[in-house]
Amino acid sequence: MADHEDRTDLVPVDHGAERDPGTAIVRSDALENPGLPPHRPRVTDLDPKAAKTAERLIVTLFYVSLAGSIFSMAAYFAFPIRQNDLGSVRLNNLLIGLGLAFALLAIGVAAVHWGKVLMVDHEGVDIRHPVRGDAQTRERAVDIMRTADRESGFNRRVLIRNGMITAVAALPFPAIFLFRDLGPAAGTPAAAFSHTMWSEGVRLTKDPTGEPILASDVTIGSAFHVIPEGLNESEHKLEEKAKAAVLLMRLEPGSFEVSSGREDWNYQGILAYSKICTHVGCPVALYEQQTHHLLCPCHQSTFDITREAEVIFGPAVRPLPQLPITIDSQGYLVARSDFTEPVGPSFWERTGDYDV
Ligand code: FES
Repeated sequence: MADHEDRTDLVPVDHGAERDPGTAIVRSDALENPGLPPHRPRVTDLDPKAAKTAERLIVTLFYVSLAGSIFSMAAYFAFPIRQNDLGSVRLNNLLIGLGLAFALLAIGVAAVHWGKVLMVDHEGVDIRHPVRGDAQTRERAVDIMRTADRESGFNRRVLIRNGMITAVAALPFPAIFLFRDLGPAAGTPAAAFSHTMWSEGVRLTKDPTGEPILASDVTIGSAFHVIPEGLNESEHKLEEKAKAAVLLMRLEPGSFEVSSGREDWNYQGILAYSKICTHVGCPVALYEQQTHHLLCPCHQSTFDITREAEVIFGPAVRPLPQLPITIDSQGYLVARSDFTEPVGPSFWERTGDYDV
């Protein structure tokens, strides 16, 4: 109490004669409830002309909304989406969106204005009820708990009770181990996706037979679904295939772009690209022979083979990785190396350095 003797903003609480004075303190500067401000009538309450003007404004806003809805419907027909014309898609969406935006906004403004200036204006007070249950309810609750305790033996059978508490407390721990798989201890995705079964000299074989492919069998316009030689005998066949699957196509030499450093990655126009979509990893299974486009059926990402599998449409953001190929002494197609970047979808740890 000596600490408080020089504080002028603290005063003792009077807890009645039976309490020692000065055992609790409250601040003396607590705010007083200011109550509600005095009611002030609005202009529209006093002036019928102002009320009429407000009414007209609100009605006008509702008709503006109607006009917005009609405009958006008219825009749908007047500015249709034309095939292969991105500008028409933008214009169509813009005008429909503007119409709907005005329609919604006008309804909102009209409703708020109506509520503020014309609807009855009086303050209502809802008294807050105590949250605490009455004595009878509380007694009944305690009774129920006691009965449950008696009938379950929760406090009597200590061993069972402690066993149950231990089991429930341990239940979240398996989740920690499952989350561990997301962490670096289990190997980063960069490490997992950077190495496939492909390496120098591994033959390209047909999926699913495993038959090696002669370069002379790959005619212009044809496409092959390819797996590495030995995949069918691999212990983790499916996991390996999910990373190493490749699409093989032959284009007219000179009809496609080749960037510096990739000059010897194709063999006389035969190109091999990862079949694993760089969006979320579906197999890119459709080859359009006329356009030289590869299509992913999952979300329609489209890759242009003549431009090193650049994405030309859809949600994928990276080209398909290219597998460098050549032929062996017997004319069979073989890999020059593994892929030079991780295959499949992007991931957080993905950087420009793939040497993991
Ligand atoms: S997985 Fe290929 S576009 Fe989504």
